[in-house]
Amino acid sequence: MIANQKTLKVCIIGYPVSHSLSPLLHNYWLKKYKISGEYVSSEVKPDEIEAHLLNLPKHGFIGANITIPHKRAAIKVCSEISDTARKVGAVNTLITAPGGKLIGDNTDPYGFIKNLKKAYKKWNPRQTKALVLGAGGASRSVCYGLLKEGVREIYILNRNRTNAENLKTDINDSLIVKSWKDRNLLLNCATLVVNTTSLGMTGMQDLKISLENLSEKAIVYDIVYTPLNTSFLDAARQRGNLTINGLGMFLYQAAKSFSLWFGIEPDVDERAKQIVLERGI
Ligand code: ATR
Repeated sequence: MIANQKTLKVCIIGYPVSHSLSPLLHNYWLKKYKISGEYVSSEVKPDEIEAHLLNLPKHGFIGANITIPHKRAAIKVCSEISDTARKVGAVNTLITAPGGKLIGDNTDPYGFIKNLKKAYKKWNPRQTKALVLGAGGASRSVCYGLLKEGVREIYILNRNRTNAENLKTDINDSLIVKSWKDRNLLLNCATLVVNTTSLGMTGMQDLKISLENLSEKAIVYDIVYTPLNTSFLDAARQRGNLTINGLGMFLYQAAKSFSLWFGIEPDVDERAKQIVLERGI
């Protein structure tokens, strides 16, 4: 246990939040690394969020994860915000600083990229032409992560084109917006295809796309992890593409948040994966 045995409190705040697997995962890591800490969940309504966050330090929390629907609202309460959170336009991790100040960060881009690099060690960002499906919050993290790694050609395709244009304005002018209905054709230029839409998630329709024009050498990445195997990934695997699901992105973003609070980046080991698989899928 750490020196003074004081329990370091962290929480996840969302609305709803009961489905979150973060408490199980972080409490596993706290135990594994013998840190005297506790990770709890808190359901907070949107009209109470700002006051609640501002009071976190007073209530003894050293940090928090922020989830749907509060990721944007959390920006407003921060005294300091990382470049990543500012660009992505969302905070998923809060760290309390001396004097009760709140620092906002976003570990989703890190989680996305780390998972990609773990799955494909030879990945070369400079030779990547990425086709990103979707323009919501998750897409912002994915695009930012890819840009930071040095990917120069990123195509965004979204059902609502205005949302894609807004993402381009907010994140980087080099992003190329194309029409959602041209997705099958545009696959012919991609070396990496990422689904960031909610299509394929449990309870949603499948992503409808024909992979006919896609090179068999392209990487196919679905950030969905419930279920682990979407029809999009299945189709890609059957034709020989390397596929990556969203489980690792979830685990690595969590590991990064943990390191921001406790100073240790925990190992994404088999037990950590099992915790999510047993309870979440
Ligand atoms: P997240 O934070 O997980 O990214 P989000 O911000 O609600 O969630 O974004 C959901 C994404 O899935 C959006 O890109 C959305 O497209 P629109 O901007 O056109 O709404 C996409 N999406 C959701 N349902 C869809 C559907 N039936 N067909 C195509 N895209 C869909």
